[in-house]
Amino acid sequence: MKHQTIAVLDFGSQYTQVIARRIRECNVYSKIYHYKTPAKTLQRDGVIGVILSGGPDSVLAPKSPRPDKAIFRLGVPVLGICYGLQLIAHLLDGKVEKSNHREYGHGILKVATKGSLFRGLPNALRVWNSHGDRLAKMPTGFKAVASTENSGYAAIVDEKRKIYGIQFHPEVNHSEGGINIIENFLRKICGCKGDWSMADLARESISRIRETVGKDRVLLGLSGGVDSSVAAALIHKAIGRQLTCVFVDNGLLRQNERELVVDLYKRHFDMDVRVARAGSKFLQRLKGVTDPERKRKIIGKTFVEVFQDSLKRIGDAKFLAQGTLYPDVIESVSIDGNPAATIKSHHNVGGLPKNMKFKLLEPLRELFKDEVRALGSELGLPKEVVWRQPFPGPGLGVRVLGEVNRRSLDVLRKADAILHEEMMASDLYYKVWQSFCVFLPVRTVGVMGDERTYDNVIALRIVESMDAMTADWVRVPYEVLQKVSTRIINEVNGVNRVVYDISSKPPGTIEWE
Ligand code: XMP
Repeated sequence: MKHQTIAVLDFGSQYTQVIARRIRECNVYSKIYHYKTPAKTLQRDGVIGVILSGGPDSVLAPKSPRPDKAIFRLGVPVLGICYGLQLIAHLLDGKVEKSNHREYGHGILKVATKGSLFRGLPNALRVWNSHGDRLAKMPTGFKAVASTENSGYAAIVDEKRKIYGIQFHPEVNHSEGGINIIENFLRKICGCKGDWSMADLARESISRIRETVGKDRVLLGLSGGVDSSVAAALIHKAIGRQLTCVFVDNGLLRQNERELVVDLYKRHFDMDVRVARAGSKFLQRLKGVTDPERKRKIIGKTFVEVFQDSLKRIGDAKFLAQGTLYPDVIESVSIDGNPAATIKSHHNVGGLPKNMKFKLLEPLRELFKDEVRALGSELGLPKEVVWRQPFPGPGLGVRVLGEVNRRSLDVLRKADAILHEEMMASDLYYKVWQSFCVFLPVRTVGVMGDERTYDNVIALRIVESMDAMTADWVRVPYEVLQKVSTRIINEVNGVNRVVYDISSKPPGTIEWE
């Protein structure tokens, strides 16, 4: 089935993909086109609306990117956002000029005429602006329908030709009613029915993967985290046993983690999963090392070695798949060149040597985390995988403070499993950002029965966060803390004290190392 399609012409805004994702949120199919795409191509593709993205340039600069002017004569609605609005004015017969002050940040948008674009929205909206130039004169046929403190032309409309321009960014989260404005454009102005869904995205990705891969083989480093799991499930749906996954057991995993991953992917999904058991190698190299950054480097380097080694044993493959998401490639937005293939630097396969002659397969490259989760559910991955808390690549290696050894890892694993069980039992696990235990290499005095003890301390770290950039400790009910503490002290040999970390980030970080 062919879906109603909205074209997004990309003028290099860092928000172009965000526009595409808002359109997907409205259950409408969109395609991002190079800004130079001829109007004829858009017509041939049957697009029913065009959005001109923002961009870093000034329309006043002679070399700034311009679209094919014929898009205004296609007879389909056009919405220009920020730079897009200025293009509309500049290319039709309006006037744009340099402004004395840049409008950046929040402003209050006063809507004078709601029309179709602002239907159902309040008269005043807090919107996000980021532009230097300003509109000095509207093109013929346009009417100003909203203003901000700095501009009488914050939204302009030519209802007859169905051309709309808005100065602010409706696609960003911090523009109030932004998604409603986009939805109004799609549904009320372009006539979109909302005929597209995550199931369609899955179907399209699967057929694209089949086309790209052909009869070749694909390798993928499976970490068990959300991104690599969804990538694996998607690719497996597309090419079945042509996909081989490698799971590296670095000895720094949580309790039963290897068994769970193998069980799910091998048994449940019938995937070809190879496990590289390399715990001893990692632990040997970490012997005597206490500096967190050195630990990370050793773990990263050893990972690459072990991973490469397993690839060699698997044999020829043309593609290396990665669960790279859009936020990982954000820096690659480009106007004329192809975005460089960036490998996530903190990702497990980060730093693979350049001499590995693989083509990268990154089927999640255009998606955001929550979309990847929705896609994972669509593909039948269980909630425990799709809504799993983030887990750092170096694993428990940075949660055993100081030197890492088998004993402390063992103690930490047992304590962490108890915390996990209690977070699940109290319905808190999916409500927080992360919840985990940290092993402290200090011993404190305690008393158990009639005996004096001298054992290690476990710290509980439970935080809420939106994006891990900032975080706050969770006000966990005392009863839950009490249960976790009692169970850890009673059930885990070698621990006689449990403490709760009440530091926010900043100034603390989420992990202790
Ligand atoms: P911090 O501790 O910096 O952590 O507040 C922010 C988020 O990143 C995770 N984290 C890592 N992830 N490799 C990773 O893949 C690492 O070395 C690493 N260090 C921290 C951490 O769990 C949190 O979600």
